[in-house]
Amino acid sequence: MFTVSLGDGAELRPLEPWQAEEFLTHMDRARALVDPWIPFAAAAQDLPSARALLQRYADKQAADTGRLYGIWLDGTLVGGVLFRIFEADAGNCEIGCWLEASGEGRGLVTRACRKLIDWAVDVRGMHRVEWVASSANTRSVAVAERLGMTREGVLREAYAYRGARHDQEIWAVLAPEWRAARERALPR
Ligand SMILES: CC(C)(COP(=O)(O)OP(=O)(O)OC[C@H]1O[C@@H](n2cnc3c(N)ncnc32)[C@H](O)[C@@H]1OP(=O)(O)O)[C@@H](O)C(=O)NCCC(=O)NCCS
Repeated sequence: MFTVSLGDGAELRPLEPWQAEEFLTHMDRARALVDPWIPFAAAAQDLPSARALLQRYADKQAADTGRLYGIWLDGTLVGGVLFRIFEADAGNCEIGCWLEASGEGRGLVTRACRKLIDWAVDVRGMHRVEWVASSANTRSVAVAERLGMTREGVLREAYAYRGARHDQEIWAVLAPEWRAARERALPR
């Protein structure tokens, strides 16, 4: 019902528990890309667990502590973006993302994240938007860079995942930086 155009036939929309079947089918296509980096697809293995994951975010949204949105390309769910953490009182949030292979390389996540950051900064008064990624996840790190975030530091071997310990990068953009960058990007 509520749709934000990302251009080129792509749309950002709410992704809710009633869409669990569509989400699971998409996740089955996305696993190969997502599993090496984050346990997100692994949390949706079948219909009950896919619904439970979406319900967790519906509950977070109701509590104003997180949000989840899907990205549809020409009517097919190909990925999504989320506020993994949303601390309205503190003014801090963290954005995450995923795609299936057919959605990669088109700028969909970068464009979707811009919408999320605009909303977080302009509507919700967030001061700090974070991005956390394994140093080895170069595509994810490239998104943070493309968004104009600053690489604030590396938590060495902080991320234990699938039997290995990965360096974890913290990137962030602050509200005044976001507004200034947007101002610079406006056509004059
Ligand atoms: C991380 C992930 C979402 C990045 O996907 P992505 O397609 O590289 O990112 P974007 O959607 O922003 O697209 C950027 C690409 O589209 C290209 N592009 C095309 N049009 C574009 C546009 N209008 N704007 C920006 N980029 C555009 C860019 O050049 C870039 O391609 P390149 O890397 O070949 O140079 C994806 O690799 C993924 O899902 N990985 C698995 C899950 C994961 O790691 N999640 C993050 C956990 S921290």
